[in-house]
Amino acid sequence: MKKNILILLGLLSTSWVMASGGGSYMGEKAHTNIRSVDSLRNGAKTFMNYCMGCHSMNFQRYNRVAEDLGLTEDEMMESLVLTNAKFSDKMEIAMTPDQGNKWFGKAPPDLTVIAKARGVDWLYNFLINFYVDPTTPTGWNNLTFENASMPHILWELQGIRTAEFEVHQDEKGNEHKEFKSFETVQAGLMSEQEYKDTVRDLVNFLDYSAEPAKLIRMSYAPWVLIFLAVFTLLAYLLKVNYFRDVH
Ligand code: HEC
Repeated sequence: MKKNILILLGLLSTSWVMASGGGSYMGEKAHTNIRSVDSLRNGAKTFMNYCMGCHSMNFQRYNRVAEDLGLTEDEMMESLVLTNAKFSDKMEIAMTPDQGNKWFGKAPPDLTVIAKARGVDWLYNFLINFYVDPTTPTGWNNLTFENASMPHILWELQGIRTAEFEVHQDEKGNEHKEFKSFETVQAGLMSEQEYKDTVRDLVNFLDYSAEPAKLIRMSYAPWVLIFLAVFTLLAYLLKVNYFRDVH
């Protein structure tokens, strides 16, 4: 028993460390809402426009997404599918992992279940915290995922920013960079709020794709609560009835 509790505590603390991102910058929460179909549709659109050049979603199919997001085949194929893929196809891409490794130094991973691996808050922060850094191969760096080999794909929307750091020295003489602020050097097509909303929708879509059944589960939730309330009432009435003659 004691051993089990120790194992449980160990698991909890590891998942806490993983969830906290091992020290990566997490300035804001994502506040996604998987029940908002508009948000999911908008996120799907951004994903297919901007991300599928490099990232596949191999465990997801176009027709499944259309069904879950309430889109007809025509709506899906006309406004969302940009390649010559078929409606029933998996959301695959042409780039092979070998090409990805060659072109970017690291193959862009499949993103079907990335929200399970990273969590929505991490994804949100990753996508809003790119800045210009002339010392990296892509010319970009990221506060949340330092030295990532992914360039800032959405820079036109967000604009171009540099980051200011303060360098501290600890007692041992080691240098630590502390993030101070961003400075916009070129405005984007969107305001800061519009950009954040776009990223929130995109992350919402990634969250849905990691577990499409979540939509169904969430739609059951009110019924489960109603059932519990009715059941509690019945149990209470039964108790009152049983104890009526007990003095
Ligand atoms: C030009 C190619 C390219 C495009 C387009 C692109 N990415 Fe990436 N992405 C990469 C590469 C390369 C990596 C690997 C980075 C690394 O591990 O250093 C990556 C990594 C990621 C990761 C981190 C995965 C992990 O946990 O290691 C996420 C999340 C991600 N991309 C999301 C997106 C989203 C969302 C979009 C669309 C807005 C997008 N990417 C568009 C190339 C791309």
